[in-house]
Amino acid sequence: MAEQNIYILGIESSCDDTAAAVIHNGKMLSNVIANQKIHEAYGGVVPELASRAHQQNIVPVVDQALNRAKISKNDLNAIAFTRGPGLMGSLLVGTSFAKSLAYGLDIPLIEVNHMQAHILAHYIEEENYSKPPFPFLAMTISGGHTQIVEVDHYFEMTVIGETIDDAVGEAFDKSGKILGLGYPAGPEIDKLAKLGNPKAFKFTKPKVDGLNFSFSGLKTAILYFVQKETKINPDFIKENINDICASIQYTIIRILIDKLKLASKQTGIKHIAIGGGVSANSGIRQALKDGEQKFGWTTYVPKFEFTTDNAAMIAIVGYLKFLEGDFSAQDTTASARLKI
Ligand code: KG4
Ligand code: ZN
Repeated sequence: MAEQNIYILGIESSCDDTAAAVIHNGKMLSNVIANQKIHEAYGGVVPELASRAHQQNIVPVVDQALNRAKISKNDLNAIAFTRGPGLMGSLLVGTSFAKSLAYGLDIPLIEVNHMQAHILAHYIEEENYSKPPFPFLAMTISGGHTQIVEVDHYFEMTVIGETIDDAVGEAFDKSGKILGLGYPAGPEIDKLAKLGNPKAFKFTKPKVDGLNFSFSGLKTAILYFVQKETKINPDFIKENINDICASIQYTIIRILIDKLKLASKQTGIKHIAIGGGVSANSGIRQALKDGEQKFGWTTYVPKFEFTTDNAAMIAIVGYLKFLEGDFSAQDTTASARLKI
């Protein structure tokens, strides 16, 4: 293993970010991402616009990833790409590009499941970062996903809980929209919540059995609450924005932590890793830290650039699969609803 010299290019295009990264023997050399600003005006991702932007971005993004890694495409040992899940039009751009490049260079093609990649991002070699030992629980929380997964080995994963409607990031974003905040609203709610009282307003937690989640009821509860209060006082939102944000965030964090507690109790696993854009939230980070004291958990939060959608996580899965000789055929197709 010490003799190896493996360069993997990872390509990610499942949603609204076009990303490419190079991993060398498990270590990141470059991690390039082109965010698509175009969706901000619509308050959410517009799939058709996303795939068009991917087409414009993919060549320069891949080029930049190779340049920053200081390698040429001929140094690559394999091309890893996101096969799914995600938006079909977006996935097709990355998939077609990866297939052609691998074919042209005559090197292996490696398909990657985006949800596995969020979890395996913890295995990117980083100084001073200890990787979670197997088995561990992984909670992926983002604008598109909310899952708790039992991870027994790199590719032995079982989804033990997931959302039955909105993702947790959507809960932040849709609540923000009701409050007149910009998109995505998660970071703004996080910032305002720090200035407010989390117990100022009470929103009931959804009653969902087992380890599954539901967030659409919370959004409706917030909508009705705001409508009722602004009828009495038109300035209600403006005068109470910090307390409203703190209370919404507090409710969401309680929902997440309660399910994690249950998952840990049911499985007996106390190593807990998180990923996805919402893991940037300061409240959830603090709640996990508290969990170390209160429940004896050991928690793992990767570097921010590896939690949001990125290609380094795709490349690391490519590397792990490369070591196992797990390659894909040229007739592989994108799969919008790919499961773990
Ligand atoms: O992983 P990500 O970049 O993209 C996907 O959705 O796959 O996650 C984006 C989501 C958005 O919903 C955004 O509002 C949320 O992550 N988010 C946050 C924070 N930073 C990003 N939510 C709460 N607090 C934050 N600090
Ligand atoms: Zn994602």
